[in-house]
Amino acid sequence: MLQRSLVLLKPDCIERRLMGQIISRFEAKGLNIVAMKMLRVTPDLAKQHYAEHVSKPFYPSLEAFIVSAPIVALAVEGLDVIRLIRDMLGATNGLNAAPGTIRGDFSSSRQMNLVHASDSPESAARELKLYFAESDLCDHELLLTPALR
Ligand code: PPS
Repeated sequence: MLQRSLVLLKPDCIERRLMGQIISRFEAKGLNIVAMKMLRVTPDLAKQHYAEHVSKPFYPSLEAFIVSAPIVALAVEGLDVIRLIRDMLGATNGLNAAPGTIRGDFSSSRQMNLVHASDSPESAARELKLYFAESDLCDHELLLTPALR
């Protein structure tokens, strides 16, 4: 099933100059980047993005982190891409993420875990709308996932 997922390269990813390596992994896997932009998350956007976590004890720290520096938002398209990207990221806590995954290779933290990705089709639809207008999403007819060619 062709899907789109919202991916955020978080402040630690930008500050550690890991953007290129992480985007390269998505490209090497044959996924389509159909929109991308750098932005500063505001406290209001953070509360919308992390709506299900706002009442949790760790939320103030999570918000302070996500607004602390620019992020890069990507809309990524591919077959079963929501599950696939979560698998490529590894466990939420970098300390528990398997070697070979993005967090397993580059993160040792639960908060500074480099990348956010949507965890379900419902989350993806909601989160994509927070960062992109429908008109921002490029149609990649010439860049179809290899498996679809
Ligand atoms: S998951 O995969 O959605 O179940 O992960 P979850 O553990 O629910 O975490 C959701 C996001 O909250 C962040 N998080 C924390 N930040 C700071 N401190 C603590 N203790 C903490 N626990 C969870 C975590 O990095 C997840 O961020 P995203 O951007 O979704 O990866």
